[in-house]
Amino acid sequence: MSSSPGPIPSSWVSTGHLPTPEVVQSLVREAHAQFGSVDQGRVAHGIPALATASPQSFGISVAATNGATFNAGDWAVPFSIQSLSKPFLFALVCEAIGEQLARDTLGVNSTGLPFNSVLAVERTEEGLSNPMVNAGAIAATSLVPGEDAEAKWRFIVDGLSRFAGRRLEVDAAVYQSEQATNAGNENIASLLSAHQQLWCEPRTAIDLYTRQCALLVTAQDLALMACTLANGGRQPLSGETVIAPLICRRVLAVMVTAGLYETSGDWLYQIGLPGKSGVSGGMITVAPGKGALATWSPPLDEAGNSVRGQLTAHFLSERLGLNLFDSRPSGEAIGQAP
Ligand code: DON
Repeated sequence: MSSSPGPIPSSWVSTGHLPTPEVVQSLVREAHAQFGSVDQGRVAHGIPALATASPQSFGISVAATNGATFNAGDWAVPFSIQSLSKPFLFALVCEAIGEQLARDTLGVNSTGLPFNSVLAVERTEEGLSNPMVNAGAIAATSLVPGEDAEAKWRFIVDGLSRFAGRRLEVDAAVYQSEQATNAGNENIASLLSAHQQLWCEPRTAIDLYTRQCALLVTAQDLALMACTLANGGRQPLSGETVIAPLICRRVLAVMVTAGLYETSGDWLYQIGLPGKSGVSGGMITVAPGKGALATWSPPLDEAGNSVRGQLTAHFLSERLGLNLFDSRPSGEAIGQAP
């Protein structure tokens, strides 16, 4: 299918707005109070540096497209971004090489399999399914422009920092810990290389991918990053245009398809919004035109998605009226001529 049938007048794009600031702040506090005592899930244990996270940590941040933020709990505590870098990296690669080529190269279909699945790489000739799983994100990383590894890293860290509106730094302990236990990702990179689906040295792709996963963010940073995707690509605080509106649409579409891996269908059915999870317990949820929600709570379910994060997203999607599929019957009688 071709990329776009033509421009849409801005005034025809309609997305609604969040309730008043008082209502949003009060619901954010209510969600924090309600779900803070939930004790299901298990802190990630695959990466040793993440296994020491406190299961009690719980932060919520909502950012509106006008730049207002609404916070509760541990919203200002930094943690490593992990898989939450994937949609932003994909956005930056789309900007760099064009969204059509990025789609043709990386794919935009779900795997129905866990985020680190090797089977998903082995089962097709191309090996790639989408840039929200590890294989697709490692391949996307290999497409980053730059004459050497350092230039490529600058592209990644500068781009992700522009989404956040502040300079992001790497957590050295998380980076080293993940480097020392990276056999799964190294295996994926070798397979991709064998399928001719890596566009730089496998070692460079893995290192850049691992470093980007170790960037430190707070829930508020993530809410503002995700809000940039809700705001046609303009960072709501800095006012900087980070990516084009069309690329926001493309990234949000892939998040809907694969943001929660094999449970993406359950997520969409329940919450009705693009979302993305990370193994450190972060989650983002985007309400196009309105704003975005970010949560941080380390205990995860079996698929690697934060338990409190999902509960909060469901609660706020319902109570703030965010579900994209919601509508109410029109006041006009059916069958009557206008
Ligand atoms: O590459 C990995 O496996 C981790 N650095 C990131 C995985 C992740 O966050 C999956 N999320 N649910």
